[in-house]
Amino acid sequence: MVEFFINGQAVQAEDNQTVMQAAKANGYFIPYFCWHPHLSVPGNCRICMVEVTNEGQPADSGWLDIACNMPITKGMRVLTDSPRVRERRKETLQFITLNHPVDCGICDKAGECTLQDYHYEYNGSPSISIDAKVHATKHFALSERIVLDNERCIMCTRCVRFTREISKSDALGVLNRGDHSLIRPVEDGAFEADPYSDNVIDLCPVGALLSRAFLHKARVWYLEPTPSICPGCERGCSIAIWHRKSEWKLKALDARQNNRIDRVTPRENAAVNGPWICNKGRDLARIFERARAELAMLKGQPVDLQAALGSARALIAAARQPVALVSSWGSNEELAAFQAALGSRFASYVKADWQVEPGEPVEDDLLIKADKNPNTAAARALFPALPEDARGALPPATDLVLVWGEGFSFAQLPAGAKIIYLNSWLQPENGHADVFIPISVMTERHGHYTNFQGVVSAFEPCFARLPGVADAESVFAGLATPAAGARP
Ligand code: SF4
Ligand code: SF4
Ligand code: FES
Repeated sequence: MVEFFINGQAVQAEDNQTVMQAAKANGYFIPYFCWHPHLSVPGNCRICMVEVTNEGQPADSGWLDIACNMPITKGMRVLTDSPRVRERRKETLQFITLNHPVDCGICDKAGECTLQDYHYEYNGSPSISIDAKVHATKHFALSERIVLDNERCIMCTRCVRFTREISKSDALGVLNRGDHSLIRPVEDGAFEADPYSDNVIDLCPVGALLSRAFLHKARVWYLEPTPSICPGCERGCSIAIWHRKSEWKLKALDARQNNRIDRVTPRENAAVNGPWICNKGRDLARIFERARAELAMLKGQPVDLQAALGSARALIAAARQPVALVSSWGSNEELAAFQAALGSRFASYVKADWQVEPGEPVEDDLLIKADKNPNTAAARALFPALPEDARGALPPATDLVLVWGEGFSFAQLPAGAKIIYLNSWLQPENGHADVFIPISVMTERHGHYTNFQGVVSAFEPCFARLPGVADAESVFAGLATPAAGARP
């Protein structure tokens, strides 16, 4: 460890730490644009200037230098907020905004833009330039997912470094020099094909890189993030699901906008995904905003939930060889509830609710895993996997099958077997089951998933459970105990 001083206070730094790293670790704030803890250090934005004096030198001999690229030396004295530092940051912001359009009023980044924040903290003055701004492409289609506003770009190069150092697609570069510099994709379509491309939207410290899916959909201060887990593969990345704050619910427009997923962003989790997620994780609305099943049914005829549970209980009581196909999207709590309530009554197998979709990346060395289900590890700790040849694997005398979750064709079931089906989505199979029970989705309830490494993570509800829909946990309790019923 090395001792040095920040704003007159003695602090400890790890060997080889920079001033920026040591300051952050000790709770001191230094602004930054181009620096990022998981990327290389280009030192190009110059906003992180601090005043430094070496050990044994007079206090007035300090010089200004960038904190992100300056190694700590023993006894060094650093001032993070002196008048000289504030004046230099003001000048730097004047320079950075020289050609910036300052169109915050129509910018999606407004509310979470560090350029805005630092301007109010360190500058606060109109531009001192008397020259006309240099204009650039205002709407450049970087990919089908991302639009680039070159006028807002401050050339921090975080996006370029991300594709070089993290996703390894080498898909972005800087074209031209000086105030004609432009971020551009390389010409072989690599950025379009980069399955992690949307991370540059979060990385961009200003509103230059914007999600087409989110463009002009909502101001961020009307939204709130709910901590959740991506169910897109067995990595189980930590995410935040952004949706409308209850106090800002829309009254006059389509009420469904109050219950929609506006965007998904990563939640940093060193044990699982670091600060990144893949593009599939951003597109969870595609999974969760499919049409929902909201009515219990007996052979396709709507009934109330209690009637469906009563019929299911009768089928279970009468069965001689019942089999259950357990969902790999069920939470740890639901799996435990199933095992406690029905585990001894059924021969149970774990099925894969989702398979690799056409065109989807199967697996890579960064995050993406081949198993496209979030809780296979926890389910397989309790029950064996359903063999690929399900028809051959199930006992011929199987007379009842409880199918939990999607992704299984009833055509694979033994002829004549009765079917109890628990599913969340409006799908043709629902009407073919003897008993169909609609169940909630993970955005409507609490729970935990265990990823392939054994890391257990929690998810929280974003929206109220739909009317007529039950949690699988209470359905299992209701199937085992006639008096218990299920919570509709
Ligand atoms: S587009 Fe954003 S992340 Fe990329 S260089 Fe410009 S400001 Fe930085
Ligand atoms: S790597 Fe897997 S869990 Fe992580 S965001 Fe992508 S699909 Fe979701
Ligand atoms: S954060 Fe240090 S130069 Fe950009």
